[in-house]
Amino acid sequence: MTDLDQMKTDLLAAIDSAATLDALEAVRVSALGKAGSVTALLKTLGGMSPDERQVQGPRIQGLREAVTTAIATRKASLDRAELDARLASETLDMTLPAAAAPQGSVHPVSQVMDELAEIFADLGFAVATGPEIEDQWHNFTALNMPESHPARAMHDTFYLSPSPLRGEGRGEGASASVGVLGDPAQPLSPTLSLEGEREMYVLRTHTSPVQIRTMMGQQPPIRIIAPGRVYRSDWDATHTPMFHQIEGLVIDKGITLGHLKWTLETFLKAFFERDDIVLRLRPSYFPFTEPSAEVDVGWTMEKGRRTLGGSEGWMELLGSGMVHPRVIAACGLDPNEWQGFAFGVGVDRLAMLKYGMDDLRPFFEGDARWLKHYGFSALDVPTLSQGVGA
Ligand code: PHE
Repeated sequence: MTDLDQMKTDLLAAIDSAATLDALEAVRVSALGKAGSVTALLKTLGGMSPDERQVQGPRIQGLREAVTTAIATRKASLDRAELDARLASETLDMTLPAAAAPQGSVHPVSQVMDELAEIFADLGFAVATGPEIEDQWHNFTALNMPESHPARAMHDTFYLSPSPLRGEGRGEGASASVGVLGDPAQPLSPTLSLEGEREMYVLRTHTSPVQIRTMMGQQPPIRIIAPGRVYRSDWDATHTPMFHQIEGLVIDKGITLGHLKWTLETFLKAFFERDDIVLRLRPSYFPFTEPSAEVDVGWTMEKGRRTLGGSEGWMELLGSGMVHPRVIAACGLDPNEWQGFAFGVGVDRLAMLKYGMDDLRPFFEGDARWLKHYGFSALDVPTLSQGVGA
């Protein structure tokens, strides 16, 4: 065996036994690198006689090719082995959730609004909305509260300065700029024209203006609820300057107080998930309903806590009544043809009663600990069949 054959056998053996890509690379450098053994042989070709070169040339080139091919083959198999090993060690469990569990929670107000929408959808009520920056005609006048009406004073209204809003149209298009609330330097003119009133804005003090917008925007029969934010200048454990109401309105032919009572009873039984909810309709006064009834709900003492159901005592829950003929007429409908009932209830108060909070203020403070304690899972969508309470 010549030296060349021996070299080839040795190199091929070394290549074959290289266990890693690094080891293989070391063999390659020792043979084909600048100072490698095969490279050194190739360099000797230059000093050979033509005859000698003719014999040695193909042999040395053959050696180089054999080594190069062997290295490539070995490299491919090491590469594959390395990939296999990596795939085996890096298996991904595709059944794991892609992201960490959501951290947020659904606010009790949103939860209760969803519950109410679910209950009333089942009774055939659609959801209506209106602007939070409302003109005084919709918020007061059309609801049978003319300019001089004392009931306007009951609402602790946030008035918007009229000037920044002039010419911007009314209702939804209007926007308030910071610092325009309640400008005492601009008392309302007692001789305000109707058109003028439609350009005077307030933060709506209740959801009742949505009654007006609905009656003016669609033909009866009407069955809607209108949930949303309302504003009054008030602040204590049970009053915040912004809170939530839900308005109910039914306009049809032959609607009576009986329909109102049945609707409220059905709604409250579904909401509080108790069949022993007892209502008491107490005569009251709202300018936009006649007759008007304050609705009390009965409670009993259970484990030292007042719990809704039964009738040991009563707590005031909502305002309601038969829509005043003047309100129906203000919306362009004939009150001799159409009658209806309306009610308005505090959503925050419903949430407090159902879920046991006794202070309203933390509802709007954004304290993560409170939200975590009282919040709901985003996946617990209220459905009537499962009971609307999460
Ligand atoms: N808008 C009244 C309030 O905010 C509630 C109400 C609505 C009363 C509808 C009667 C009818 O106090």
